[in-house]
Amino acid sequence: MAKIDSLDVFSLSAVEQLSGQFTVPGDKSISHRSIIFGSIATGTTHIKGFLRSEDCLATLKVMQALGVNIEDSKHEIIVHGVGLYGLKAPLHNLDCGNAGTAMRLLAGLLAAQKFDSTLVGDESLSGRPMGRVINPLTEMGASIDSNDFKAPLKFSGHQTIKPITYNSPIASAQVKSAVLIAGLYANGVTTVVEPNKSRDHTETMLEGFGCQVNVDGLKVSIDGQPVLTGQEIEVPADISSAAFFMVLGLCHPNADFVINNVSINPTREGVIKILQAMGGRLTLSNTKDQAGEQVADLRVQSSELKGIEVPHELIPSAIDEFPVLFIAAALADGTTILTGAEELRHKESDRIKVMVDGLQLLGIDCHELPDGASIRGGQLQSGLVDGHGDHRCAMSFLLAGTLSQGKEIAVKGCHNIGTSFPEFFDLVKSLGIQVKQPVPVITIDGPSGVGKGTTCALVADLLGWHLLDSGSIYRALALKVMKASIDVNDEALLIETAINLNLAFLMADDKSTHIILDGDVVNEQLRSEECGEMASRIAPIPAVRQALFERQKAFLKSPGLVADGRDMGTVVFKSAPLKVFLTANAEERAKRRHKQLKQKGVDVKIRALLEDIEARDYRDSTRKVAPLVPAADAHVIDTSDLSIKQVLAQIMNLVEQNVKV
Ligand code: S3P
Repeated sequence: MAKIDSLDVFSLSAVEQLSGQFTVPGDKSISHRSIIFGSIATGTTHIKGFLRSEDCLATLKVMQALGVNIEDSKHEIIVHGVGLYGLKAPLHNLDCGNAGTAMRLLAGLLAAQKFDSTLVGDESLSGRPMGRVINPLTEMGASIDSNDFKAPLKFSGHQTIKPITYNSPIASAQVKSAVLIAGLYANGVTTVVEPNKSRDHTETMLEGFGCQVNVDGLKVSIDGQPVLTGQEIEVPADISSAAFFMVLGLCHPNADFVINNVSINPTREGVIKILQAMGGRLTLSNTKDQAGEQVADLRVQSSELKGIEVPHELIPSAIDEFPVLFIAAALADGTTILTGAEELRHKESDRIKVMVDGLQLLGIDCHELPDGASIRGGQLQSGLVDGHGDHRCAMSFLLAGTLSQGKEIAVKGCHNIGTSFPEFFDLVKSLGIQVKQPVPVITIDGPSGVGKGTTCALVADLLGWHLLDSGSIYRALALKVMKASIDVNDEALLIETAINLNLAFLMADDKSTHIILDGDVVNEQLRSEECGEMASRIAPIPAVRQALFERQKAFLKSPGLVADGRDMGTVVFKSAPLKVFLTANAEERAKRRHKQLKQKGVDVKIRALLEDIEARDYRDSTRKVAPLVPAADAHVIDTSDLSIKQVLAQIMNLVEQNVKV
């Protein structure tokens, strides 16, 4: 697969039908734990179905750096355990990448070692709260230095770890696990009490490895200094990855398929319960036990979802699935209210903000609440949304594109999908959905006289991209209307003329474009005041715009397009990765136009030009169809006091920041 870098933009096509059966990769939480516990057990641990995602591979590499021999034999991972006290001092900092689970679980492990070590992470992980593990571990006797309770975390070795009873203020499996893992090195019983039940893979797996574990409701205790023995582990399919396809199938009009062997651990199945409460047809079969974890086949059938108030008790067991549940809510009938989920603000991104911002951009009526969101179901519109490098948000928005009934949803910030679901695009393709890397478009809109035409041609030339001068298409139609004496009130004839317009753009040797209408070069004629006036009269007619829409879309060809016009960013190329809107005050524009006309020997009064410009601005910006306004996500540049060179420099700077070239 192509390398996904931080600016890469992807979109998914629609698909007519979803059927058959498939499975999703192994569970992320279980994969992390299998490597850590296998490493500190004695003997060998064989892990089948291990999730080879960037996050889990980060844990694997950290354990290798701590002296554990771990082999990858393609069909399984083999961990040669070194026992509880066999880890070695690392030679360098230990990199957890994007993985919060790796950092927090390993914090429990490293706090209790006889050597110093440091855990580091990427930018997102370095901004996430670590006080939640530093505090209880310090209470246990650990010595941890941090950057104001954030990574890097520096552990001083040789501390005596004491058993404690920790009343966790949050329901977090990572916190619970950090304390219990440190507790493995304590002399006595370590207990964690949670306000709500978080996922229980640590206690389940530790018991499987031979540790004495006691679970009493929300209280989990383990005996310190156990002898852990290597195990055979078969990792079930990750319900968090399956969740994307549950929502895809339920919201798709023609879906009936089965996802095989999904983990349905009761501390993880909140997403199934929430979707069922929304009216989703999800049916479980072949339920069985797999090394202490329950798995089942999950049938997903098209459903009419309705909005609900999400029950608070289901939040911890669906905590990672909210991004895709936001999409389900956006496509459901009625309003979905989520509260009590403040924790979502501390994930790989602030998931409440990222999802609400994205859905709003796609035309959904929703807003943030301090601890959740309110989302009213509706019809998704086209747009370019930002996944903010959060794997789950990016995948959720991508699938929204498959469910948007023909609207194009492009998603940027997809580069971390591999942290949890490296096979995502392959699986999507196997379902008949096309994965597209949209050809990049830069839209440059604005009224006449702002320097648009010249700037666009220069940008296109600098980038070596195609150029669409959409205004000239409207002007060419206007010219044809005038030449053929077509009555502008005869809408049917106007549309027919628009559809059949015999128009071509040819690049001349001097790199200028020749606009050819019915075989004649018409560049000069198109620039006349008369033609501009007629274009402004026919352009507001919705059916005319519709007829010319596809014609404009057809300009989108590799390697990229610079689209010059008035509604390029708001209507024609709504999902463009860079939108620019040029403005200038009316006086300045009148002066520029006056100068241009004078050069051509045309003598008009500036005052008349100014009145004309003001009248046209008013008409263009207030018309009902595609009014001349900047797109919400456009960069507005006022060119009144700028030279073309300065405008060009500003645009090229934006290109560098926003578009991959
Ligand atoms: C995880 C616990 C959850 C979850 C994360 C994986 C784990 O985090 O969001 O993706 O494997 O323990 P919290 O413990 O912060 O709730």
